[in-house]
Amino acid sequence: MNAQNGRWWREGAFYQVYVPSFQDGDADGFGDLRGVERRLDHIAALGVTAVWLSPIYASPLLDFGYDVSGHTEVGTVFGDLATFDRVVRGAHDRGLRVVLDYVPQHTSSEHPWFRDALSSRDGTHRDWYLWHDPKPDGSPPNNWASAFGGPAWTFHEPTGQYYYHAHLPEQPSLNWRNPAVREAMFEVMRFWLDRGVDGFRVDAVWRLIKDARLRDNPMMDDGGESFEIGGAGAHTTVRQIQKYTADQPELPGLLAQMHTVIDEYDDRMLMGELHLKLERVAALGTRGLDIAMNFSLIDAPWNGLDLAKLIQRYYAALPPGSHPNWVLSNHDRSRLASRIGTERVPGALALLLTLKGTPTLYYGDELGLPDAPVDAGRARDCAELRAPGLGLGRDPQRMPMPWEATPSHAGFTPDDVEPWLPIPAWAGQFSVESQELDSRSLLSRVRELLKLRRELAALRQGGITVLSADPDHLAYLRGDGENSLVVAVNLSDRDQTVAFPGSRSTLWSSHATVGEGDRLPGAVTLAPFEARLLR
Ligand code: NOJ
Repeated sequence: MNAQNGRWWREGAFYQVYVPSFQDGDADGFGDLRGVERRLDHIAALGVTAVWLSPIYASPLLDFGYDVSGHTEVGTVFGDLATFDRVVRGAHDRGLRVVLDYVPQHTSSEHPWFRDALSSRDGTHRDWYLWHDPKPDGSPPNNWASAFGGPAWTFHEPTGQYYYHAHLPEQPSLNWRNPAVREAMFEVMRFWLDRGVDGFRVDAVWRLIKDARLRDNPMMDDGGESFEIGGAGAHTTVRQIQKYTADQPELPGLLAQMHTVIDEYDDRMLMGELHLKLERVAALGTRGLDIAMNFSLIDAPWNGLDLAKLIQRYYAALPPGSHPNWVLSNHDRSRLASRIGTERVPGALALLLTLKGTPTLYYGDELGLPDAPVDAGRARDCAELRAPGLGLGRDPQRMPMPWEATPSHAGFTPDDVEPWLPIPAWAGQFSVESQELDSRSLLSRVRELLKLRRELAALRQGGITVLSADPDHLAYLRGDGENSLVVAVNLSDRDQTVAFPGSRSTLWSSHATVGEGDRLPGAVTLAPFEARLLR
């Protein structure tokens, strides 16, 4: 490994593009690679280091690409390989890295491997999935439940066995104990690495391997405590502890094996989706995963004391070699603005972009987008369609990106085309166009923060010490000595005076443009919800 290796993902920032909702490039109302290509300048202008693309593979789209029917094909609705190559090239030309979603836990039921597995018990690919005989009374082999509700086993009448699916019945889980599956899925990685992708975000990786003895999962109602975070609130409709279906003892070894494929190439990386307790997430960020994705901010109560505790708990849990990272929003959870309130968004983004570790910014958060309500008749997400009205649906946080202020579909798709998800009339007011030229807009502030991250070693590499916290504010120090920075966030709707060591001047504020020269002797009074960087 040379000294440069890993710097881009350790010191940089990621931007998550949910491709169906980013930009429609071929006027069918659905986002695609041509759209991403068109908007690379926006991503580059933000100042992030890498763009993570949600799945763009061939797919029946029951889970909008997380149901892969062809691992080395681009889904026709997303484009084609030539366009994919142009996106990678265009990103690289702009100094951006490209990280692709990689979905190893399951395939689509339309995948040729599964079609073959269904053909007979002797099918070449039968063992590539998890099959089991029914219990003597005909019921499923155990109580394992699907993340989208209902049993995780579906009976296949013609061959007389159940198959396991952690998610939809149309997303059969692969059998990662089978070496042939591992080799085939490693070949998939090589296919995309050869095309120049810089790494993968590994989907559902905490569920990759299941208990070989198929033991029943305990229920939370029996006094057990979930070891998952996020999952339960997000799309688990049963109160079941994933004791035997997630984070099995074989997982770290398997991830290490997966990483050997990454090591065949220069300077590539793996980041894994893990909905586990923070200590487990921290522990899994060694060997196999370069970044063990930390979603804890999504569930954090938004007050200074809880945030300070969470931050300290996370850093304390990181074993040597485990790289800190923070995710504030994604396509599975209600948007930031809707979770914590619009007025708190600038402070939250300041936190995300100044905490120690790699941040992942969800598309649209740079505009402060809230969730967009979707009428029952227009629901698209399988989580909503399977359990209507329970609030599990993920459509609202996947609203198409508003680019322009005026046209009826905010520049996402032509005016005469129906977008795949509704774009509310208010969208234009959040658009890139309406924020771009306003130096006080959230978009401008986010660009400034990302610029500061690139410029200041204290933000990219410096240590972190919490200076003070109470329910209404949080303040911490990044780096040390002359180049250190203080980050202070007011979480309340009242002025807050925050003390810090030494005398400092304001470098950045989420609020008014502040005069750089004014020295503040040991304390600053923050306006309601204001965040400041002081040097
Ligand atoms: C996690 C993804 O983030 C989610 O969107 C998807 O539905 C499941 N994995 C299944 O792939």
